[in-house]
Amino acid sequence: MTAIAVHGGAGDERPEERAPRRAGIIRAAETGWAVLARGGHALDAVIEAVAVLEDDPHFNAGVGSVLTREGIVEMDASVMAGDTLAAGAVATVRGVANPVRLARVVLDEGREVFLVGEPAVALARRHGLRVCPPEALVTEETRRRWLAREAASGNTVGAVARDAAGHLAAATSTGGVSGKRCGRIGDSAVIGAGTYADDARGAGSATGPGEAIIRLGLVRAALERIARGSPADVAARAALACLHRRLGADAGLILIDP
Ligand code: GLY
Repeated sequence: MTAIAVHGGAGDERPEERAPRRAGIIRAAETGWAVLARGGHALDAVIEAVAVLEDDPHFNAGVGSVLTREGIVEMDASVMAGDTLAAGAVATVRGVANPVRLARVVLDEGREVFLVGEPAVALARRHGLRVCPPEALVTEETRRRWLAREAASGNTVGAVARDAAGHLAAATSTGGVSGKRCGRIGDSAVIGAGTYADDARGAGSATGPGEAIIRLGLVRAALERIARGSPADVAARAALACLHRRLGADAGLILIDP
């Protein structure tokens, strides 16, 4: 069975944000689904789905990312393929329109798993990815919120999928948390915390306070529950309850089991 699940972050949402975000999520799921329907790999499906959300200013990823304390957009993203356990992650990248595609380049190169900052942006240029002045990813709304010192609602975006061959994949992308210090890296770039995929266990993408999610290794913790026999929804709820109990943090999670 092929399947895809997409998230646009967890947390408070203003009523007027609901309809455009819902439309964006549906567009992203349909884009990923189209890849699966033509026999594509789960990794391509999750990347195409997440790229749609990065291009949508209603989400905190790509254009529309929240601003750092210094008023700059710095983004994190990661991708993982469950068949090979190949992974790619980037963090603190500026001016890259689709960090999820850059994470894919890191995965495809197969040299490192994790690249940060300007060398990652240089890699994006070398591979012909869309690179723009960092301020081009700042929207009027994110600037207004930054000036008002208002926390953004909603959060990170992500997708998980299973393709016709039974392979799983996960992708996550974010602008991080509003008001973060430049250089801060959240869970969305950390394999095992915000993103993980293993054909034998499942795939997951998280959203919420990155520091707590990293400390628990949230997605891996949830997938271990699937490996021990829990259905995906039970595993997700149990892992989120554990995050709350151990670290007092609330987060969101999408999971797909094998
Ligand atoms: N979950 C997004 C972040 O903490 O950066």
